[in-house]
Amino acid sequence: MTNNSCKPVSPPISGGAGGGLLFINIGTLVGVDESGLLRRQGEEMSCLGMLGDAWMMVRDELIADYGPMSELPEAAGCEVVDLKGEWVFPSFCDSHTHIVYAGNRATEWLDKINGLSYEEIGRRGGGILNSADLLRDTSEDELYRQAMERVNEMIAKGTGAMEIKSGYGLTTEGELKMLRVIRRIRETAPVEVKATFLGAHAVGRAYAGRQSDYVDLVCREMIPEVGRQGLADYVDVFCDRGYFTPEETERICVAAAEWGMTPKLHANELAVSGGVQVGVRCNALSVDHLENTTQAEFAALRGTSTMPTALPGCSFFSNLPFADVRTMIGEGLGVALASDYNPGSSPSGDMRFVASLACIRMRLTPQQALIASTLNSAYAMGVSDRLGSITRGKQARFFTTVPLPSLEYFLYAHHTPLISKIYLRP
Ligand code: NIG
Ligand code: FE
Repeated sequence: MTNNSCKPVSPPISGGAGGGLLFINIGTLVGVDESGLLRRQGEEMSCLGMLGDAWMMVRDELIADYGPMSELPEAAGCEVVDLKGEWVFPSFCDSHTHIVYAGNRATEWLDKINGLSYEEIGRRGGGILNSADLLRDTSEDELYRQAMERVNEMIAKGTGAMEIKSGYGLTTEGELKMLRVIRRIRETAPVEVKATFLGAHAVGRAYAGRQSDYVDLVCREMIPEVGRQGLADYVDVFCDRGYFTPEETERICVAAAEWGMTPKLHANELAVSGGVQVGVRCNALSVDHLENTTQAEFAALRGTSTMPTALPGCSFFSNLPFADVRTMIGEGLGVALASDYNPGSSPSGDMRFVASLACIRMRLTPQQALIASTLNSAYAMGVSDRLGSITRGKQARFFTTVPLPSLEYFLYAHHTPLISKIYLRP
């Protein structure tokens, strides 16, 4: 099966009972990692494991073993799949998306072309509030249908795990509605899904001019209800100029911690906001965007468990600065990449293009960009113990490409259709 038609393909990966699949003649097996590291930082990000002329065995949906073709084992009941020189990559993990939304905001894009900034559109009542109006008037079934089109598009581009945020409800019922759609995606799509509650994405219309009352609503009503219903793994806040303050963000993180939701924050997209420091104080799993940083942010992140996450697709589409990830890596930090797929600032979930952009505009090497969009982004959504690399015992979620002339070619030829087969949950 191929994905040339951009249709999702997920052939079952395990054979009959007790059987499995033995892939042979793999041109190069990319992302081999035997280090046991759950994330790679600093110089470790330059070490992308690759094994040429390889085989890989999959049993019970797990990577059972792999090795060079010169040491090919007996098939031992496995169905043999001859890849004839195709390359194998671990699926991309997209640790930051907003793919549950209604319609699109192409009209605002025209406003941007004509000179308005993201913040000006927001101040005029457009932007996130525009998406909230559209979402309110869209049924849950229809939201699910539209979101699944995006999920399928992402799968066809090589993504095997995604974090999805709420944040276009902005009322208790609206946020719960979004989170139920995310749960339904998790239950039905062949990808790993993590859900993040982002009630503090903007102040809901009914609370215009009463931001602190809205934060009360988020802390006292939304979080307890989301927590009781077990609808979110993580909590997020848009901590930035013109949105939520570091103090409000911390209050929300503390309230969510009572329900076991770990923060993954929007920080420093529009200004140096203090969001990174709040995230670190609240043991955030990740702080995302980081288009605006100073030495103080790098210092705050050093030695912590928080993963800085860059969203180059957002910088590209929204004409924002690109995060200074080279300095971060030079400082010994790890870096993750994600798409930020959303209707306002990044209407694409193509992780291969995200990785290419990180090379082109942030000057990551292809090795660093691939680690950032697989192992490190898996870490940034809490799944790197089972996804994000070719490691014995990890889940077999991967894609193949046509035989490539080199690793860098995969990101250099950024829109050539090179991906040929997708292997996900049956
Ligand atoms: O990550 N910055 C905040 N949230 C999204 C944009 C959401 C929207 O504009 O709809 C982002 O860029
Ligand atoms: Fe975002």
